[in-house]
Amino acid sequence: MAKKNKILILNGPNLNLLGKRQPEIYGRLTLEEIGREIRSLAKRLSVEVEIRQSNNEGELVDWIQQAPAQFGAIVINPAAYTHSSVAMRDAIIAAGIPAIEIHISNIYKREDFRKHSYIAGVAVGQITGFGVQSYLLGLRAAVEMLMGPVSC
Ligand code: DQA
Repeated sequence: MAKKNKILILNGPNLNLLGKRQPEIYGRLTLEEIGREIRSLAKRLSVEVEIRQSNNEGELVDWIQQAPAQFGAIVINPAAYTHSSVAMRDAIIAAGIPAIEIHISNIYKREDFRKHSYIAGVAVGQITGFGVQSYLLGLRAAVEMLMGPVSC
């Protein structure tokens, strides 16, 4: 049974390079440092988070498929797979737990190919363009959806 107070944070390809990858677009924090901010907010909101990253589409699909056994919701930055992965979209539908799509950059202000998301149509909603805050807003959205309004 999905634990309502446990949220899976998934990161797609190249997000392991955060900190040194195009810092003018993605900022200077590493995924590890972003993880610390996410964990600190999760503690304040009294929820558990598990943060994973993969460069492999199949591994991400496996994690999405397995998520309902352990998690109440998924916050996902699908990275480049946003714009290509029917497999991840199908996995989210099959998982049947709420997924919130997030992006560090505003995908609608960038190249045309980034303006289409295969994930958006099956996500509860999308948060895009708030830098690291996108992760924290995504976590808040997931927690509010699962547990009601939060006060911090
Ligand atoms: C991204 C935006 C994607 O277009 C890109 O491929 C990424 C990161 C973001 O967080 O802004 O890798 O998902």
